[in-house]
Amino acid sequence: MSSFMKSMYMYVATGLFMTMVACSMVEPPVSKTSASLYDRLGQKPAITAVVDEFVGNVAKDPRINGRFATTDIPRLKGHLVDQVCMATGGPCTYTGRDMKTMHTGMRISDADFSALVEDLVAALNTFKVPDTEQKELLGLLGPMKPDIVEVP
Ligand code: HEM
Repeated sequence: MSSFMKSMYMYVATGLFMTMVACSMVEPPVSKTSASLYDRLGQKPAITAVVDEFVGNVAKDPRINGRFATTDIPRLKGHLVDQVCMATGGPCTYTGRDMKTMHTGMRISDADFSALVEDLVAALNTFKVPDTEQKELLGLLGPMKPDIVEVP
């Protein structure tokens, strides 16, 4: 190979290598967390099952069940499913009231909120929802707390 050919070869090879490096830098990493939380939870049927179990746990929880004495439970479940579905990236629209409007005046306490979260975590555990997904879901609900809790 002539020295001209050799240097052309090196030039092209270096260019190709640089292009490959650049591409590998801009390519999004393929990871198992690239699916939406909605998909990883198992979409609407799985969310519906968790919400059913969760509301069932709340109904059995003497710390907070009195609050729901006059509630239309099927309607509440429907709203919760839509809310979780939408918040996790699913194809749903939540049509219920915003959290502040809904809970204002109920004098919900920090302890009430923790009890409800415990009932939700118990439901997630019943369906063996992995820790990562549980944390992500609670991370989406946590910021709603200041709109819901009125008394310490
Ligand atoms: C992150 C926490 C919470 C979320 C995401 C949440 C979500 C909701 C939703 C979506 C509704 C229905 C809205 C509508 O019908 O327009 C609702 C209603 C209600 N929530 Fe909450 N909530 C939370 C915490 C709590 C807590 C801690 C309590 C009390 C222990 C509570 C008590 C109620 C009651 C009594 C209703 C009214 C049901 C009715 O219409 O009779 N919520 N909530």
